Amino acid sequence: MVIISISDWFTFIGRFHPLMVHLPIGFFSILVVIETLNRYNYLEVHKKVIQVIIFCSTLSAISSCILGYFLSLEGGYNEEILVEHQNQGIVFSVLNLLMFCLKLDYSEIRIPFSKRIYDVLLLLTTLMMIITGHHGGNLTHGEDYLTEKLPFNKKNNESSVALSNSTKNLDKNTVIVYKDIIKPIFKQKCEQCHNASKMKGNLRMDEVSFFKKGGKHGEIFKANDAEGSEFIKRILLPESNDEHMPPKGKPQITEDELNLLRWWIQEGASFDKKFVEFEIGNEINQSLSGLGFLFSDENKRNARNNQTGFILEEKILNEPITTINESLIQKIKESGGLVLPISQNKNYVEISFVNNKNLNDENIQSILGAEKQTIWLKLSNTKITDNAGAVIEKMTNTTRLNLFNTKVTDKILTNIQKLPKLEYLNLVGTGVSDAGLNSIIQMKNLKKLYIWNTKITDEGLNKIKNNLPNLDIENGITEKMKIDYLNLKQNEVSDDVYKKKD
Ligand code: HEC
Repeated sequence: MVIISISDWFTFIGRFHPLMVHLPIGFFSILVVIETLNRYNYLEVHKKVIQVIIFCSTLSAISSCILGYFLSLEGGYNEEILVEHQNQGIVFSVLNLLMFCLKLDYSEIRIPFSKRIYDVLLLLTTLMMIITGHHGGNLTHGEDYLTEKLPFNKKNNESSVALSNSTKNLDKNTVIVYKDIIKPIFKQKCEQCHNASKMKGNLRMDEVSFFKKGGKHGEIFKANDAEGSEFIKRILLPESNDEHMPPKGKPQITEDELNLLRWWIQEGASFDKKFVEFEIGNEINQSLSGLGFLFSDENKRNARNNQTGFILEEKILNEPITTINESLIQKIKESGGLVLPISQNKNYVEISFVNNKNLNDENIQSILGAEKQTIWLKLSNTKITDNAGAVIEKMTNTTRLNLFNTKVTDKILTNIQKLPKLEYLNLVGTGVSDAGLNSIIQMKNLKKLYIWNTKITDEGLNKIKNNLPNLDIENGITEKMKIDYLNLKQNEVSDDVYKKKD
């Protein structure tokens, strides 16, 4: 037998309070209308009718008070506003009761000035109804529910940069990630229950200090650890789970929003860092445009290149180029590759075979024909060997080449060396050794080189550094990089491989 405790019933009944309160409001409003029309002799309503209306208003007001009390037992409301609202509700009910008594035939005869008093009470009770209703609304929807949408409310205009259906042209140099991207998501999906007046789970998300403090179970996020962050965990729980956020039936977090929240946590959960100070992958760019953010391509590339200094790539992107022909794209797709535009209005592309175990020295030939348009070539975690060098060598517009975790060795460097515009080279986990150094130091345009987990010695490393003093060499592995690589799924559209070690 299922035993349901009495308090369960109380909370259940309490939930009818928001419905119930409309009754006294309705009854009392009709009373005000009738009494006003009566006063101006516009219509004559039988006194009995009026008595019945006040009676209904009084009864429903008292019931609302009782249900409201049950609802408050659930907790999670701002105590101060709650007590005010409760008292106002009681005063409203008592005023109703007084009016009812004054309207009785008995009182009208016995009590001097009863009509005058009744009129004064009518006015007071109307005011009380408005005040009580307003406070109740604040408890449910948050204090700035009404005012935030005022057209001339400046605060509103500032914080609603994101998340409407229109596109926003933003300047990456001024956008603050938390304020302009993350906070609007919280505001839309979380804050109606986690604010000053409604603190479900004892959690407020409307101000940074409270967000940092967390809820009744403590902190709700861990910087750099999205999967370990309580609020992300809750968003990821199945909707049927009681702890899932936002609770079932409420507007849910979308895929794009989740991407951005995770990214923000993973990048350190800063509350004041600007957009340009973050690492921005393709996926993040896509999620941002999914939410209506639009950064001009110019801004986008500047932000990226300011950090990395890929000058040649920048130059190429400014040169007009014809599109790759469709049948070639089809051919590349058939061999398991992705052809992705680098930027929207240019025809330059990234060709990616990331994690494609079917890619070998034979079928990589499918990319021949796309030499002019291909500037990024991602071949990590594939079956290619040094023999693919002959094809790679022909891709002369390549500015970024990724050979992470392939079987290539020093031999392929003699081919790569012939790529005149190469600025980024990833050789992590390959068989490259000090014997390949002579080729590497010929790559005068190289800006970034990843060589951890290769056979290059410290001595070799120093030789590269001496010959290419401006080259940025990544020779260490951090936990985060490991995770990033492990998380790369088959052909994932990701810029992770270009991430700086932090
Ligand atoms: C409709 C109301 C509602 C919305 C919207 C909502 N929550 Fe909650 N939240 C609750 C309730 C109720 C609890 C308490 C449930 C519990 O104790 O498990 C809670 C608890 C939490 C907790 C646990 C706090 C603690 O320490 O116990 C976290 C974290 C949380 N919510 C995050 C979020 C996030 C993030 C969002 C937005 C994506 C969100 N909530 C949206 C009602 C809501």
